[in-house]
This record gives sequence, C-alpha cells and structure tokens, in this order.
Amino acid sequence: MKVYIETYGCQMNEYDSEIVRSVLQQQEFEVIATPQGADVILLNTCSVRDNANRKVFGRVHTLRHLLRKQPVKIGIIGCMATDFKKELLDDDHLTVDFIVGPDSYRNLAAIIRESFENDRKGFDVTLSKTETYEDIYPIRNSGVNAWIAVMRGCNNFCSFCVVPYTRGRERSRSPESVIQEARQLAQEGFSQVTLLGQNVNSYNYNGSDFAYLLNKVSEIDGLRRIRFTSPHPKDFPESLLDVVADNLKICKHIHLPLQAGNSRVLDLMRRTYTHEEYLRLVDKIRATCPEVALTTDIIVGFPTETDDEFEDTVKVMKYVQYDSAFIFKYSERNGTLAQKKYADDVPEEVKTERIMHLNDLQKRHSLKKNRAHIGQTLEVLIEQQGTKKSPDDVQGRTDGNKLVIIPGGSCQVGQYVNVLITDATAHVLKGQIVEK
Ligand code: 5AD
Ligand code: SF4
Repeated sequence: MKVYIETYGCQMNEYDSEIVRSVLQQQEFEVIATPQGADVILLNTCSVRDNANRKVFGRVHTLRHLLRKQPVKIGIIGCMATDFKKELLDDDHLTVDFIVGPDSYRNLAAIIRESFENDRKGFDVTLSKTETYEDIYPIRNSGVNAWIAVMRGCNNFCSFCVVPYTRGRERSRSPESVIQEARQLAQEGFSQVTLLGQNVNSYNYNGSDFAYLLNKVSEIDGLRRIRFTSPHPKDFPESLLDVVADNLKICKHIHLPLQAGNSRVLDLMRRTYTHEEYLRLVDKIRATCPEVALTTDIIVGFPTETDDEFEDTVKVMKYVQYDSAFIFKYSERNGTLAQKKYADDVPEEVKTERIMHLNDLQKRHSLKKNRAHIGQTLEVLIEQQGTKKSPDDVQGRTDGNKLVIIPGGSCQVGQYVNVLITDATAHVLKGQIVEK
C-alpha cells in the first residue's frame, strides 16, 4: 500500500511525520512523495491557530477533487485530530476516512487497514501519559539538521493555547535513548541536531534536567552544532544559561517566547512571569552570554488588551531588540481557558493595526541586528545549493541561526565555511567564503 504524508505546523509535526514514516515502513507500507498514485493520504495537522485549521479543510477538498478517479483514503493525524474528532467524523462534506491523534501512531497501520476492510470511519485520539516513541528511529528527510524530540506534551495550560488538549501532558524520554539516537545520527553524517519539545527546557527524566541532557549530547563526537526549541521563560536556571554560554557546541541562539509585554495580560494568559521578570531574564541571559541571538513569539489582541497595554509589548521589543520575531493575532481556540472566560473582544482591525506596527518595528530591529554583522567573519553550515534567485548561490546558517546567502559560493551541502559578511537585509546576510 502506498502512503503520501503532508505535514503542517511546527517542527514537532515534522518529526512526528518521520516517526509515522518509520512505523508504516516497518509494516510494509511504502511512503511516496506525491499524492498521485497514493492509496492513503495522511495530513499531519496543526490546530494552534484557526488559519492552520482552515488550510487543512481546504486541502481535503482540493485533494478529493484532484484525485476523484483515485479510490484514495484520507486520514487526519496530529493536533487537529484530537481537537476536531467529532466535526471531522460527522461532516459529510469533508469525507475524511480516519483520524489518529499524536499519541496513537503505533496503531496507525491497523486503523488504515481497517478502513479498507470495513469501509467505516476509524479513529484513535487517546492521549497518553507515557508515549514518547523513544524506541522508534525516525526515517528522516535528507538535510543537514536532524530533529530529536526529547519531551512531548505540555502542563502549562497558557490560557490561549490548545496544545495541552491536543498533545496531552508533559513527558520526557530517557537521556540514554536521546544520546543513542544522537550518536546514530552523528554516525550517519548529521553534524547538527535540534532537541525538540513543546517546553523543551522543562525536560526532566528522574532528576536529569535539560542542562544535563545538553551537556551529554554535546559529548558526542561528530556533532558540531546543537540547537533546541521551544523553551519557556519559566525554566531557565543558571545552570542552563551557563551551559549555553560555555559549551562551544550549543548554538548561541535562544527563542524566548514573550507572548505579551503587559503584566496584567500575561497574568490572564497564565504565562507565570511579569513584564519585569521577563526583562530581568533577558538581562541575565545577555550578562551570561552577550553574543546570544534572541528571537520570540508574540500574540496581539488577546481579549481585553488595551492600547496602553499593547504599548508595553512595544516597550519590551524596543528594550530587547530581538533578532527576529513571529507575531500572531490572537485566535480563539475551542476548549481553552481564554475561550471559556473571555470574549474575543479586540476588533479585527485593531489586531491588524497592532500586528502591522510590530512587524514594522521588528523589521527595523532585524535590519539593525543583521547589519551589525557586516565586516564580521562567521562560520556557516551550508544547507542548500541554489536559491530562488540563482542556481549558483548557496545558502546556510550561522551559529545564531541567521540565513546567509553566498553568491557563486563553491562548497558542499553539510560543509562548514567561514564567510565574510558583506551585506545584510532584514531577512538575510550576504557574504563571501574566506580562509580563516
Ligand atoms: N492564537 C494566536 N497565537 C497562538 N499561539 C499559540 N496559541 C495561539 C492562539 N490561540 C502562538 C504562540 C506560540 C506559538 C507557537 O503560537 O505565540 O508561542
Ligand atoms: Fe501552549 Fe503555553 Fe504549553 Fe507553549 S507553554 S505549548 S504556549 S500551553
């Protein structure tokens, strides 16, 4: 049986698709690269914001139309599965054949087979307190980076967020299983790994914390760059900051989701820190590791956020001067605390105004940060030969995760080169390869 998998949303979903591929190939399914010719199509979905949901509904319709002569089964897996079980199963227009949540991938093959045998809609959206797939070695896409999920789920229940409901409670993998996977990756030639988790720095396995895990993974020969995402500001003990600062293999980049800059809004969001506490953490990070690149996530238009309160977010951005930021409009999610307690009362035009304002501000900060690299020589890991603009360009990333274009660069994917930065925009650096 031929399966085609399409992945939406975050890196955890990318990783999960690699797990799914592994599970299915072990059970004699063949994973193919196009929907044409597939017996089964899996959409690995995200439900963190409403537009992610809409994209998937649209895609199901398009696929059905495109493949109307192909007797294909379409399954929804991932975060929307848990959240939308009822709607998906009951909606006759949608014609989804089965639904499998993020903790049930071991049962996927059986559910697919059953849907062919019984022609009945199947589902398994049970959430587990223990499933980490730690014994499954994902079948990865080629590239220079390998993801490793070290923990799954979330216990924080930020009031806007659907993740604790779609992915369940927090659980960590044993350090041994992570190290073994990282070692195998190094043997296969990956020199960069990214440790993943919904709250990656809450990692804890029988007392072994995230700082311990980072150090252990960094001891593996062959690995040269270790990244992690996404952390929560509440879990940055000094020991972790010291590892980031002192361990040469840990990339000097911290994604530090702010969400909002006003303490009252942060309290309604249940983020567990205030405006001042967040800024103190930024100061501490910069004092420990001055060269660190900081990036963030921000939500505008959370229920009841006033213009003055929004200005506090602007203030934090001006103070921190992030290297880059993902900025979102608040999107009400079913079942979350915010949905139950507060009306989505900030008008759409106000959300639009606020997001435009922050995107503008961020663009200026990114440009300033990027231009500061002009004249520096930075180590770049080459990720890709050819860019949208020219097949002769190569592109890669710095330790701080900045994208670098090297026009006419002659080097191999996976190679580390020293690049003299000669130009910069808000989005990319440009440079030439130099001998060190
Ligand atoms: N509305 C808008 N943005 C959201 N995020 C999570 N839930 C919502 C929501 N309901 C954003 C947060 C988070 C990122 C992954 O997505 O900023 O950090
Ligand atoms: Fe969602 Fe908050 Fe958990 Fe992140 S920490 S996944 S925003 S509930």
